[in-house]
Amino acid sequence: MERRSIGIVMNGVTGRMGYRQHLVRSILAIREAGGLPAADGSRIWPEPILVGRNGAKLAELAARHGLTEYTTDLDAALARDDVEIYFDAQVTPLREDAIRRALAAGRHVYTEKPLAGTVAASLDLARAAAHVKTGVVQDKLFLPGLRKLQRLVDGDFFGRILSVRGEFGYWVFEGDWQPAQRPSWNYRAEDGGGIVVDMFPHWHYVLEQLFAPVRAVTAHISTHIPERVDDNGPYKATADDAAYGIFELDGGIVAQINSSWTTRVFRDELVEFQVDGTHGSAVAGLRGCRIQSRAGTPKPVWNPDLPVTESFRDQWQTVPDNEEFDNGFKVQWEHFLRHVVEDTPFPWDFMAGVRGVQLAELGLRSAREGRRVEIPELS
Ligand SMILES: NC(=O)c1ccc[n+]([C@@H]2O[C@H](COP(=O)([O-])OP(=O)(O)OC[C@H]3O[C@@H](n4cnc5c(N)ncnc54)[C@H](O)[C@@H]3O)[C@@H](O)[C@H]2O)c1
Repeated sequence: MERRSIGIVMNGVTGRMGYRQHLVRSILAIREAGGLPAADGSRIWPEPILVGRNGAKLAELAARHGLTEYTTDLDAALARDDVEIYFDAQVTPLREDAIRRALAAGRHVYTEKPLAGTVAASLDLARAAAHVKTGVVQDKLFLPGLRKLQRLVDGDFFGRILSVRGEFGYWVFEGDWQPAQRPSWNYRAEDGGGIVVDMFPHWHYVLEQLFAPVRAVTAHISTHIPERVDDNGPYKATADDAAYGIFELDGGIVAQINSSWTTRVFRDELVEFQVDGTHGSAVAGLRGCRIQSRAGTPKPVWNPDLPVTESFRDQWQTVPDNEEFDNGFKVQWEHFLRHVVEDTPFPWDFMAGVRGVQLAELGLRSAREGRRVEIPELS
């Protein structure tokens, strides 16, 4: 079968996301499957060129996976004739400059979120990228739980949607008596950290794509743990580690999402969304989704003098898989590769990324100024 090779400069592949989700679970998984079938019968064959700061680490990583192409020289990688795509999973503050270089070299760009540190910079990137194809990671949309939620919306299960309540988070260790399970830059604002910057871009595309455009935000943020410890010793946690947000959507839908690295999990999954509608409700996590329809809704009566008489959790029905769900990052990569090679539609572009950054920026403004902030339309 004919192979259509496509060179991809992958920057930041020694990191958590770059390595596990993008290199191993997406690009290498596509190669292991024999490439991505194209409409003309050929196979799209991604050829990763690994880029990073540390040549020895890249060499070790490449050898581990039988890859030969790696370099610490980004511009040289971007200048190669066989390269069509630049991918960025570096720490956020380094992204803008690297993407600009990729755009100057005429490459299509796919990147982790957030697109850049500010709306102004993100918009500028979107404008500078008018001549190429762009994409921003929106992996949560491709999770089984959210796919099922999308199915319920498409099948008009909810009737009129009233509200969405999201709980995201878990305890991230402070690093003193047990090592932290996330990189320490996440807890320093000056290094691009903070849970609003990290999570609001996700909430933006989830809300916008599943339900309706987001028109206003009210947020309260905290740095509950002001000092943490990493390999270099104690450091000041200057970024928010919890955010309590209210998002107003078109159609009067109110979404309320807690995001926290300082909460202990008493849920079935690390993120859960409850959607309440006139005809039914659903609770979706990363994988599972349960529903309760109008007809199946119990009629509890408030009486604190009596013990609970029914098991509310048992009154929900499990939504079946009905299909095989692949890794969400890989599914979006496949869409982007087809977009580049076959010009298929790809709605998750830089402008979608800008709207995610905008929600984070205005969420932080809301918290700083202690008020509700409306979200202007971007052009
Ligand atoms: N889509 C998602 O669900 C998701 C989840 C977590 C993180 N992210 C995003 O992915 C990006 C990377 O996050 P991560 O958790 O993989 O981070 P990480 O710290 O594990 O990896 C960061 C990468 O950037 C490189 N880097 C370059 N300069 C650096 C510097 N000065 N300091 C530290 N690292 C430097 C590192 O070598 C590494 O390859 C971030 O932009 C983050 O917002 C996305």
